[in-house]
Amino acid sequence: TTPLRVALVGLGTVGSGTFNVLNMNADEITRRVGFPIEIKAIADLNVDKARELAGPGVEVSNDAFALVSRPDIDVVVELIGGYTIAKKVVLAAIEAGKHVVTANKALLAVHGDEIFAAAEKARVMVAFEAAVAGGIPVIKAIKEGLAANQIEYVAGIINGTCNFILSEMRDKGLPFADVLAQAQALGYAEADPTFDIEGIDAAHKITLLSSLAFGVPVNFGKAYVEGITKLTKEDIEFAEQLGYRVKLLGISKRTAAGVELRVHPTLIPTRRLIANVEGVMNAVLVKSNAVGPTLFYGPGAGSLPTASAVVADLIEIARLKDAPLDSRTPVLAFQKDRIAQSDVLS
Ligand code: HSE
Repeated sequence: TTPLRVALVGLGTVGSGTFNVLNMNADEITRRVGFPIEIKAIADLNVDKARELAGPGVEVSNDAFALVSRPDIDVVVELIGGYTIAKKVVLAAIEAGKHVVTANKALLAVHGDEIFAAAEKARVMVAFEAAVAGGIPVIKAIKEGLAANQIEYVAGIINGTCNFILSEMRDKGLPFADVLAQAQALGYAEADPTFDIEGIDAAHKITLLSSLAFGVPVNFGKAYVEGITKLTKEDIEFAEQLGYRVKLLGISKRTAAGVELRVHPTLIPTRRLIANVEGVMNAVLVKSNAVGPTLFYGPGAGSLPTASAVVADLIEIARLKDAPLDSRTPVLAFQKDRIAQSDVLS
């Protein structure tokens, strides 16, 4: 059978990880899907670096727009991040009839409704497992594994950088700025780390989870957002003395008045599982009415873990691309069950 032909846009931490996971597990992936998933083209501003990694047979360019509309491409993987060029690339790909995989939570939390509507019109899939909680398959869990339930709330440690900073400050007594620099060096932090430490990245992610869990439009603008920059070493120590651990949580809850959406530091009793999630690990607690509480745990950032989620989306698209539209689980199902009247509290 013909392979699934992929254009990779952006060869940073997650982009190079995606390349590596596809190579490392090529045999297993081919066996599971029934045909190979092949990177045909790579767009990156650093063409030399891309050429070096890609080897012969892969088209390399610094012009993403030239690649995304090529007839020999089935899926565009957008891993450049940000709102501007990424949005143009994604919309150009959709208009050219390509499926899209993206890890760009900022883009989807702000412009998701426009992008999903364009995808529905063009009858293509947009998959974004890597956008929330790195390698944890929490989007697939909410869309598929918990599809029998009404969800009551979602609460999670969904920024690896903040969790890493809080853990290292507590365990090693290191100053905030030093640990942040480490998180940047390890490739955990956003290009602009303000997004991490001010809670904006977590708010992007809880916005997406809330939309999936409760069928509301993406409403980043209505989220209450507070990061970890006002926390001191003493806050963390005093909390410990009283039996609590400080965690930055993203929370979305169904209430009679609407859907709550908030990010802020939270005191969690240390005996709770979620209080013991340390370092770059993330954990998402989902409370639903049939199964009760479920907790999803794993690496929330980093090259290979995040790439694991990107490649899972490629596998899903490979399996569904010839299926009838209604049976496709990414984005289209996401649109279909929207509760138009239900809104997010401001
Ligand atoms: N900067 C993000 C984090 C990367 O630290 O969680 C993963 O989305």
